[in-house]
Amino acid sequence: MTAPAMVAEFDEVAGWTAEAVEQLGRRHAIPATCRGSASPAALAWLAEACELSPGMTLLDVGAGAGGPAAWAAERFGVRPILLEPMPAAGRAASRLFGLPVIAGDGRRIPLRTGSADAAWCLGVLCTVRDKAAVLGEIHRVLKPGASLGLLVVVARGRRTLPAPDGNHFPTLPELRALLAGAGFELVEQAGLPGRAPLSWSRRAEQVAAVVATRHRAHPAYALAAHQGERFTHLFASGQISVQLIHAVSRTSTQATHGGMMSTGEDDFLHELEIEVEAEVSLVEASRPEEVAGLPVTEWLFDPADAEREKIGLRGLLDAVEVLEDGRRPDDHVA
Ligand SMILES: C[S@@+](CC[C@H](N)C(=O)[O-])C[C@H]1O[C@@H](n2cnc3c(N)ncnc32)[C@H](O)[C@@H]1O
Repeated sequence: MTAPAMVAEFDEVAGWTAEAVEQLGRRHAIPATCRGSASPAALAWLAEACELSPGMTLLDVGAGAGGPAAWAAERFGVRPILLEPMPAAGRAASRLFGLPVIAGDGRRIPLRTGSADAAWCLGVLCTVRDKAAVLGEIHRVLKPGASLGLLVVVARGRRTLPAPDGNHFPTLPELRALLAGAGFELVEQAGLPGRAPLSWSRRAEQVAAVVATRHRAHPAYALAAHQGERFTHLFASGQISVQLIHAVSRTSTQATHGGMMSTGEDDFLHELEIEVEAEVSLVEASRPEEVAGLPVTEWLFDPADAEREKIGLRGLLDAVEVLEDGRRPDDHVA
């Protein structure tokens, strides 16, 4: 079960952040929504290491409210597909950047084996207990030889201070073993290449200030702030640090993870599209907007749930379209 503090940090704050960005303006969107990777220098390191180029599909696992993926699309011309389990964060990414968001879990990625050109997973692994499952799924959906860019908070020596709720920091040797076990070859690793410039951090701070003014009294705000304080203490005491990692998917262990779609046929994407469209029609047929107009006692289902499901399915459809486009020879940029 996800810790309430993580829901506050990753979901509620993400929704509030999107509202604040809409008030302050589009230029604030990317800095405010890079939660695990606040520095453009770190993103540039990852993008260069992964050799991102126009037209490539970039799967961002645990994409949050979408800042890093939007940055990669803007600067490197990639076509991102976002996977994010927290509904408000996914909605924020879709609203702010118009990017396709799949509502899902990194341990079970609803994409075809060998379908993505590259993947990022930034600030996510320390929040997941079963890191091997996430890395195994990413390996499954990547094309053989494709790049994975990771930003990981790692433990350095013995930890004496409390970890933020739900966080389990791997040591570097553990991370290396996890990568090897999932079928990745570690190419290169580096520490954070420097702080964000003021032009970037000030915009993020302005958004955070609007969020604080509006939501300081909300219990979720206090929970998220407490998580942040624990991170600050751990970084300040040197007990954790951030590592950037570039790894490539080895071919030999391809499709050994038993993922949900490891035996897809050639027309898999097309079939998936048809199935998802049928699901969208079903949800639309339930007419959530009409139900919402009735007294609560007469609801047969929660119209908000139906609306959320519809948004999630639309994200999946958008992602299928990105992948289908990527498979058309004309669209490939050499
Ligand atoms: C620190 S945030 C980083 C968000 C984004 N990658 C960034 O750099 O701004 C961690 C994200 O991982 C997501 N996450 C947690 N568990 C996950 C899982 N099992 N699969 C995929 N994402 C997960 C959270 O919902 C959250 O959005």
